[in-house]
Parts: sequence; C-alpha cells; structure tokens
Amino acid sequence: MSDVDMMILTEMRKKRDDFISGEALAGRLGVSRSAVWKRITALREKGYEFDSEPSKGYRLASSPDRLSPLEVGPLKKSAPVSGPIHHREKIESTNSEAMSLAQKGEPEGAMVIAESQSAGRGRLGRKWESPHGKNLYLSIILRPPLPPSETPPITLLTAVAVAETLRDDYGLPVRIKWPNDVLIENLKISGILTEMAAEIDRVRYVVLGVGVNLNLDREDMPDEIKKIATSVKIEKGEKIDRAIFLRSLLDRLGPLYSTFLEDGFAKIAERWRELAKIEGRRGEGTAQGGVIGGTARGLAPDGALILQGDDGEERLVYAGDMVEKEG
Ligand code: BTN
Repeated sequence: MSDVDMMILTEMRKKRDDFISGEALAGRLGVSRSAVWKRITALREKGYEFDSEPSKGYRLASSPDRLSPLEVGPLKKSAPVSGPIHHREKIESTNSEAMSLAQKGEPEGAMVIAESQSAGRGRLGRKWESPHGKNLYLSIILRPPLPPSETPPITLLTAVAVAETLRDDYGLPVRIKWPNDVLIENLKISGILTEMAAEIDRVRYVVLGVGVNLNLDREDMPDEIKKIATSVKIEKGEKIDRAIFLRSLLDRLGPLYSTFLEDGFAKIAERWRELAKIEGRRGEGTAQGGVIGGTARGLAPDGALILQGDDGEERLVYAGDMVEKEG
C-alpha cells in the first residue's frame, strides 16, 4: 500500500496549507474514499499528523522526522540521482552498505540513507560521529562512464552542491576547504568520502558518501569534536526539516553531475573556486609519497590542488588533506 501512501502525501504536500477533500484524493488516486480513509489512519499510526474538517477534507500538519522514502517524497525520475532509496534505521556505514549493493548490481542513482551509523567513516581512516536522527548520512551509487583518473571532480561537484544548498537555502556563510570539507568559520559542517571499484581504464562504480551536520546540538558532540564542528541548527539557532534539506541537495547534485558528464568540469570549477577561495592560502598537502608545504595557487582542470612550494616550484596534489595555516 506504500505507493498509495506516497501519492496521498504528495497530493497533500502540493496543497501546502490548503485542505484537500477525501473525494478529490480518491479521484486522483483511483481508489475508493474508504481506502483513502484507511491509509490516512495507517499514516497517523506511523507518526503523520493530519488536520481534518468534515466540510474541507484533510491537510498534512506534520511528518515524522525521518529520511525514509515517504518523508523524502518522489524523486525526479529523469534525474541521474533518483533512487531507489534504501533507508536504514541503524547501520555500520552507509558507504559500506552502498558499496555492497553496487557490487550486487544496484543501478546508478540508488542511495543508502541511515538514521544513525555505528561505524561511520571519514577520510584518511577517521571516524565520523553519527548520532541517531540528527544529521544526514547519505551514500549514492554512481556509474560514470569514465576512467578512474577522471573521477576526482565528482567529489568536488558534490561539495559545491552541499555548500550552495547551505548558502542559498539556509543563508549560511560557508566555504569549501580542499578537497571537499564544507566549513563555517573553520568549523566543519559537512564531509564527503568517495570510494570506488574500478579496472585500470574503467570505473565500475563510485560511492559518494555525504555527511552533513543538520540538527546536531553541542551536547551531542564528544569534547574533541566540539572544537572543530558545527551544524545548521547551531548556526541558525533552530531545528531544520531534514527531508527538505535532502530534497534540495539532490535537486542540485543531479544537474551538476549531468553537466559534468556532458560538458566537463570547467564551469563547475568556477563555482568551486568561488566557494573555496584557496588562492594564496598557506598550507600543507599530505600527498602520497610525502608532505608538501606551500601556498595554494588554485585548482587544476582535473581537480588537483596546485601548491607552490617554498622553492617556487608548483606541484599538483591529488590525494590528501590541506592543513591550513594562517598565511
Ligand atoms: C570526511 O570529511 O572525513 C568525510 C566524512 C564522510 C561521512 C559520510 S556519512 C555518510 C557516509 N557513510 C560513511 O561511513 N561516511 C560517509
């Protein structure tokens, strides 16, 4: 019956603050009025609240604070990031689950979303704090028709999607730290962990893991995290609707990914540069083979960081971290 549930909720969301009659709902869905009433009763049991008035019908008053397909709503089928959504209450890591689903043949655009992770993973072997029902823990399966060397922009364009959602929909003064941390005043609000399975000349699948601190409170953070992290709720002083954030993020990410596949990375790189403002920052890039210190000179067309060493020589840093220092 969950398709009917999804349709009922979609019709009501379209109406926003207006009521819709049981008769109109039944007509649009092609079911009886009593079937509508039964599904509304079932949805109430799942935590949805409806206002109902005999002369007007029903209105959606509130939805449960979860990120299951019913709360996220139908995704645009034409977009490359359009589900299916595999929603889990608790899982070790959405990235690990998405890697194993991709291995079994799950299509491009499928995603794993969890309410909590018991072993959330960050870059460079770090741990990602993942308390229940507070944040976004999302992993998307992609199958770009590219060699592995051409995939780094996928992570960078994801950072653009996250940063622009936070800036444009929530008014937050975010910046990107190379390669893909999203920060507010040096405190981290989002991180991205990209993993893939590939042959030498062909990617089999990419898993794009996105963590965004949404409704995390200071009390939820271990002491060592308090000094380095923030959340939308902390910055705005109020709880946000996680499902609305997720839909908005996916609405940006899908077109960015399509643009990258069709036209390349150049135009998106402009947006990344505007959000990152890295030129001139002093830093150390830990790259494979050693630590390189220097001054950031920009982003190369393939997504690498251009770092000018104190010897004046410019080097490309592909993997690693940027340990920023005041310059
Ligand atoms: C980082 O900045 O170190 C990357 C953090 C990535 C965290 C996300 S949360 C969803 C997905 N599943 C994981 O285990 N990690 C990523």
